Amino acid sequence: MVSTQQHNIQLNEQGRLRHFLTIEGLKRDLLTRILDTAESFAALPGRPVRKVPTLRGRIITNLFFENSTRTRTTFELAAKRLSADVLNFNVSTSATSKGETLLDTLRNIEAMHSEMFVVRHNQSGAAHFIARHAAPGVSVINAGDGRHAHPTQAMLDMFTIRKHKGDFTPLRVAIVGDVLHSRVARSQILALNTLGVTEVRVVGPRTLIPTDARALGVHVHHDIESGLRDVDVVIMLRLQKERMAGALLPSEEEYFRLYGLTNERLAVARPDAIVMHPGPMNRGVEMDSEVADGPRSVILQQVSYGIAVRMAVMSMCMQTHADSGESA
Ligand code: CP
Repeated sequence: MVSTQQHNIQLNEQGRLRHFLTIEGLKRDLLTRILDTAESFAALPGRPVRKVPTLRGRIITNLFFENSTRTRTTFELAAKRLSADVLNFNVSTSATSKGETLLDTLRNIEAMHSEMFVVRHNQSGAAHFIARHAAPGVSVINAGDGRHAHPTQAMLDMFTIRKHKGDFTPLRVAIVGDVLHSRVARSQILALNTLGVTEVRVVGPRTLIPTDARALGVHVHHDIESGLRDVDVVIMLRLQKERMAGALLPSEEEYFRLYGLTNERLAVARPDAIVMHPGPMNRGVEMDSEVADGPRSVILQQVSYGIAVRMAVMSMCMQTHADSGESA
């Protein structure tokens, strides 16, 4: 379990980001600053020169102990657009497979003067653990740890919502599916509530909604039609079968019949509602292809915006260290 005291290690005494480990404990103005910083980077793909010199000569290491398509590649692209040098640590071909500990791996890559670690791990708390043991001047960014948190995914989702809806305050947002095992949902709920939306709903079968969900500041719906009624944003979640210990579902077909997003079901949401999914998506399980590829889907925009948001977080963490005179 990750304690509140551990969350605070991501901020320095002035409340600026040193690490980015979780949304928990971050204030609205800091989340807004991340979104505003990302806005300036989001314009880069349309320019003749797509790079900025912000992190020229700095070394950033992608430390992924769990598979990833979107997060790893967009972090790499983000680092390259900031002109950093990127090390991609591949667990399957590393000395970790010969028994080297996580801390020894960290020390060795620090010895190569890496100033930032982007960490994905299947254990909740792994990114906090590395942050606690990192040398002064080294930043750690959580790229997803167990069921706990995926803060940059939540922030790219907030960026996508702001692009389409502008103001957060009038919004009703439904998060549908396997909330129980989802680090993404936890981070999204924290971000949406911090940014002041009117209502966050979680929608799904009783077996996939945490029993203490209401304590997270959400309304719980087990019926998808009531859950989607009049919402502005629909966020679908993947069934995290790798994290399900027992039989929590009768079958994927039954799940789609009860909770799969179809155009008919989407009709009860607001006419301008957008549809999101963090990926990877299981077509025909969480969502019909007609919706996934339809005019209300912003799923691929989420991926594109992820580059700008990750650039923002990396540059803000590095700037905090630079301003405090810490170096790796
Ligand atoms: N959304 C997300 O984390 O996707 P990947 O597992 O492909 O990185």
